[in-house]
Amino acid sequence: MSVPVSLAGRTALVTGASAGIGEAFARLLASQGANVFLVARREERLRMLANELEQEFGIRAEVCAVDLSRPGAAAEIVAAAERMRLDVDILVNNAGFAASKNFLNSDWAELNAEMQVMMTAVTELMHRFAPAMKERGYGRIINLASLAAFAPTAPSMLYTGIKAFVLNVSEAVDMELKPHGVFVTALCPGFTWSEFHDVQGTRELTDKLPDFMWHDAATVARAGLDAVMAGQPVCVPGVVNKTLAFTSRLLPERMRYMLGRAGRMVE
Ligand SMILES: NC(=O)c1ccc[n+]([C@@H]2O[C@H](COP(=O)([O-])OP(=O)(O)OC[C@H]3O[C@@H](n4cnc5c(N)ncnc54)[C@H](OP(=O)(O)O)[C@@H]3O)[C@@H](O)[C@H]2O)c1
Repeated sequence: MSVPVSLAGRTALVTGASAGIGEAFARLLASQGANVFLVARREERLRMLANELEQEFGIRAEVCAVDLSRPGAAAEIVAAAERMRLDVDILVNNAGFAASKNFLNSDWAELNAEMQVMMTAVTELMHRFAPAMKERGYGRIINLASLAAFAPTAPSMLYTGIKAFVLNVSEAVDMELKPHGVFVTALCPGFTWSEFHDVQGTRELTDKLPDFMWHDAATVARAGLDAVMAGQPVCVPGVVNKTLAFTSRLLPERMRYMLGRAGRMVE
């Protein structure tokens, strides 16, 4: 499947564009003619990517280096977009990470940062950008959830709950805004090649997983963009992942709990 319409003249904001799935989204959107507004902490990486995309695709690419774990971050991004006169038509809430520690071994600051980056900033950016999208009668929002949103609670503490929230809130906002031309998709990939597992410190473990469990970031981004353009509220890329998501939802709660606990013991 491929993206059916040109995005020429549209502007796409991508958080977490300095690596992995976010970088793949930035490349894909620029290749479709969209101007891109790239957000992450590593400014140098964003600037290099922006220059490359401007030269390759002749689009406008702007950057905003911001730490989304800071409570004022979403407001700063909106202010930067206004200063640069960027009307955001497409929002990709992608930035994220997972801590791999147990609850009591995590500092409150770490747990709070996970919630700020993947729940508060995601929700706040939607809340701040969606009114103008609604007014213009056009908006596309992709929120990175995860296959974990369907899974039994996993060893890395808050992550499954956070991604279940992202899935849930994406569907709720989609229901409210779809009649106004603003489509929201929760993109729920499984294991994807990126820096994610290096940051989490689980690379050695995940490298043991078979190849068929993995997708590359470009495939995931393409699936997400196709889904939001088609007005699909939830997208799980890949047949294996779709099957896992489906069967996991059919399990009785007690069995989900036991599976989650077994995962914890393995850890
Ligand atoms: N990879 C997977 O297997 C997988 C599976 C399911 C879902 N996901 C989800 O997909 C999304 C993207 O992950 P990825 O695999 O592409 O990981 P990645 O390669 O590690 O990229 C994560 C991105 O998020 C940004 N980021 C992290 N913390 C940030 C902060 N405090 N402020 C601003 N930006 C921040 C990073 O940029 P800076 O470090 O430059 O700030 C980076 O650009 C995440 O939401 C993740 O939960 C990943």
